[in-house]
Amino acid sequence: MTDHRIPTARLGADGPEVGVQGLGCMGMSFAYGPTDADESRATLERALELGVTLYDTADAYGAGENEKFLSPFFKAHRDEVVIATKFALSIPPDEPTRRVIRNDTPYIRQAVEASLKRLDVDAIDLYYMHRRDPNVPIEETVATMADLVREGKVKHLGLSEVTGSELRAAQAVHPIAAVQSEWSLFSRDIETGVVPAARELGVALVPYSPLGRGFLTGSFADADKDLTADDFRRHQPRFTGDNAATNAALLDPIRTIAEAHDASLGQIALAWVQHQAQTHDLTVIPIPGTRKPTRVEENVKATAIVLTEAELALLEPIAAKVAGDRYADMTFTSAGRE
Ligand SMILES: NC(=O)c1ccc[n+]([C@@H]2O[C@H](COP(=O)([O-])OP(=O)(O)OC[C@H]3O[C@@H](n4cnc5c(N)ncnc54)[C@H](OP(=O)(O)O)[C@@H]3O)[C@@H](O)[C@H]2O)c1
Repeated sequence: MTDHRIPTARLGADGPEVGVQGLGCMGMSFAYGPTDADESRATLERALELGVTLYDTADAYGAGENEKFLSPFFKAHRDEVVIATKFALSIPPDEPTRRVIRNDTPYIRQAVEASLKRLDVDAIDLYYMHRRDPNVPIEETVATMADLVREGKVKHLGLSEVTGSELRAAQAVHPIAAVQSEWSLFSRDIETGVVPAARELGVALVPYSPLGRGFLTGSFADADKDLTADDFRRHQPRFTGDNAATNAALLDPIRTIAEAHDASLGQIALAWVQHQAQTHDLTVIPIPGTRKPTRVEENVKATAIVLTEAELALLEPIAAKVAGDRYADMTFTSAGRE
């Protein structure tokens, strides 16, 4: 492919300017089976060459391992990359579906110090609250996050899986640059409350799992049969048993459109997500995750695909037909509280 760099867009009113597609780095250390460190490092370098500047991690990914793994890459390219990490969540290794969530000030203070140490940087460019603990007022959590900005430990603030009203309450305390939530052809629940609030407030949307955790690429069809025993997707209701078979059939219109564009299924899924910027009049920076340089090239190429009105109409009914929720326990998501 020609190595022209992808266009850029700003996260929020005064957030950083980033390439219009970011890179999800979670799978490099966590959740999606065996990894190859050299291949992951090559993926990071290739992404940067193509203009991908927003790199997404979290303290929860491999209990700090993902931040440590990314640190040398970030340090080698400190002025070119926008580092996004998160606090609030820990996942007991022996209970992959359990979520331990903390939003209180003492927890945030120790979490940011631990992330700064693992990343070995002076400041985090974009610091997200990963999950909401409804026992702590959002205003209190964001006030602590705002203190971190004033102290220079963090440059911009983000929130993940918040509802529209939680986003409004947060923005009243401190500007929020981005909301990160699941958004794809299979997961559109955020369009009810979160997306309208983000548009109204000028907050950017950073869709995670824009490839439906790989299912929308056609690279696996049934998590129980196709993925390793430790793969998190085996715990997600829509990827197993009868649900998986029902959902695999929903890829047919995506396949038809992919053929017309001489593109892959994943590229069409990404083109749909990026089109939501126009549909909803807001900044949308998807962060597809991959550990392979050829796939990052493929994914970045999707930024040039424009879907026709007829194609968008063909894709429109898919999400409503998806069998099974995106998590086994939806109470940890914005949809579970909306
Ligand atoms: N805020 C949150 O709560 C939250 C939750 C989940 C994820 N995230 C973030 O969002 C990022 C992206 O989400 P995700 O990784 O869950 O899901 P995703 O981006 O929808 O899909 C990732 C999966 O698709 C595969 N893939 C990527 N490009 C491909 C291609 N061109 N062809 C075929 N397969 C391809 C990847 O495999 P390979 O890696 O083997 O290429 C991986 O298994 C994560 O890395 C993480 O940083 C945030």
